[in-house]
Amino acid sequence: MIEMKDVFKTYPNGVSAVNGINVKIKQGEFVYVVGPSGAGKSTFIKMIYREEKPTRGDVIVNGVNLSKIRNSKVPLFRRNIGVVFQDFKLLPTLTAYENIAFAMEVIEEHPSEIKKRVMEVLDLVGLKHKARMLPTELSGGEQQRVSIARSIVNSPKVVIADEPTGNLDPDTSWEIMNIFEEINNRGTTIVMATHNKEIVDNLKHRVIAIENGKIIRDEQRGDYGYAY
Ligand SMILES: Nc1ncnc2c1ncn2[C@@H]1O[C@H](COP(=O)(O)OP(=O)(O)OP(=O)(O)O)[C@@H](O)[C@H]1O
Ligand SMILES: [Mg+2]
Repeated sequence: MIEMKDVFKTYPNGVSAVNGINVKIKQGEFVYVVGPSGAGKSTFIKMIYREEKPTRGDVIVNGVNLSKIRNSKVPLFRRNIGVVFQDFKLLPTLTAYENIAFAMEVIEEHPSEIKKRVMEVLDLVGLKHKARMLPTELSGGEQQRVSIARSIVNSPKVVIADEPTGNLDPDTSWEIMNIFEEINNRGTTIVMATHNKEIVDNLKHRVIAIENGKIIRDEQRGDYGYAY
């Protein structure tokens, strides 16, 4: 479960990015976060995996109050969160396989378990045959599949994605969405910031619209609600 109570975020330069957000997201939900550029979507998303700390209010994720935990506890907390970015953020000198395995090595999983699980998630994203390729040898869509595989390899309860289809063409974006849908069908919560009207309007899920750092709309099976 994800819960925000009276959350505000002001950056050190004085910009108020989030201005009083209250929200609850249940385990297994799929939520789109929409709104104009600069509305506070990424800030909202970053507070869920504690990339940013709220200035005021409580952010509670999987039973952990992120406003209260020490920095030293953040890596442990993040084991239950997968994160996917618009620009993939793969390590350029590692193969697809190694990029995914790395996420398990840092938490000291057993080598035999790593091999089994990495092949499993590569299979889920349809990239078993490209396991040995470097990121530069993969298309954008393939790189995003690797990054999704990496985000779920440790079986997190929640996957957070900030504009995961932002750099991809429409067909590839749909392929990526089908993978997120499959992950969600297996019980993982998905919170996704997106500007993709076609996807939000056709693959229906809860829509939270943010403007000026506030939730202005929250609808089950909502629409995108903006012209683009
Ligand atoms: N690290 C930062 N330091 C200072 N201000 C920031 C920082 N990050 C974001 N902001 C400001 O906070 C506001 C919200 O930014 P945010 O990135 O959350 O918007 P967004 O909804 O994700 O926009 P976009 O759709 O363009 O990605 C903006 O005014 C932005 O300039
Ligand atoms: Mg953003």
